[in-house]
Amino acid sequence: MINIAIDGPGGAGKSTIARAVAAELGFIYVDTGALYRAVGLNALRHGIDTRNIDGIVKMLDETDVSLSFIDGEQRVMLNGEDVSTAIRLPEASMAASNVSAIPAVRQFLFDLQRKIAEENNCLMDGRDIGSVVLPNADLKLFMTASPETRAQRRFDELKAKGEDVKYSEILDELNKRDYQDSHREIAPLKQAEDAILFDTSDLSFDEVKNKLIEMVKEKIDG
Ligand code: DC
Repeated sequence: MINIAIDGPGGAGKSTIARAVAAELGFIYVDTGALYRAVGLNALRHGIDTRNIDGIVKMLDETDVSLSFIDGEQRVMLNGEDVSTAIRLPEASMAASNVSAIPAVRQFLFDLQRKIAEENNCLMDGRDIGSVVLPNADLKLFMTASPETRAQRRFDELKAKGEDVKYSEILDELNKRDYQDSHREIAPLKQAEDAILFDTSDLSFDEVKNKLIEMVKEKIDG
């Protein structure tokens, strides 16, 4: 199977690009952030503090998270319920970042990610895919963009959905989450040694997409 690992901070364009490239190549696109979001959402729903390690670890015994792919589109299931929309709520972002710093949570989601990659040609995006989950990936990218560009993209995305959001708040939240994701002890967000750095700040969607398709094809064709 061909596995492409894409890591980077929030709003770098990983998911939009990976989804488009996967569709074009007939691969599946796996958004691993959705798994952490599902665990975070479960905690929020049960009123468990997302920084309370013991509480979260106990909760894992009664947490069932899985992914399914319907017409190539990823759906996230939490205890049998499709939570693909609910996990996008703003409060789920910070909850996901908090629970993702807990080693037991990362362990809990590890096998699931590995298995999907073993069974499918995929583009998998996250924070530790090239460094921890798929160290032998065929191609590793570290996709990033300036904080301002990333905040603007997120702002435009939420505005387009009709949400009432402030740019300054999005930028603050993004910076806070990046800091937390990059400074945790376990599997922090960092560029794997053999990952290609891809700064998308000054590139259009099509430019990034075409460049990535070219890189993947080069790998496939050897
Ligand atoms: O990609 P995202 O914004 O949906 O991810 C939500 C949070 O999950 C993010 O703040 C950090 C965490 N995460 C992680 O620790 N490891 C991954 N492979 C993916 C996400």
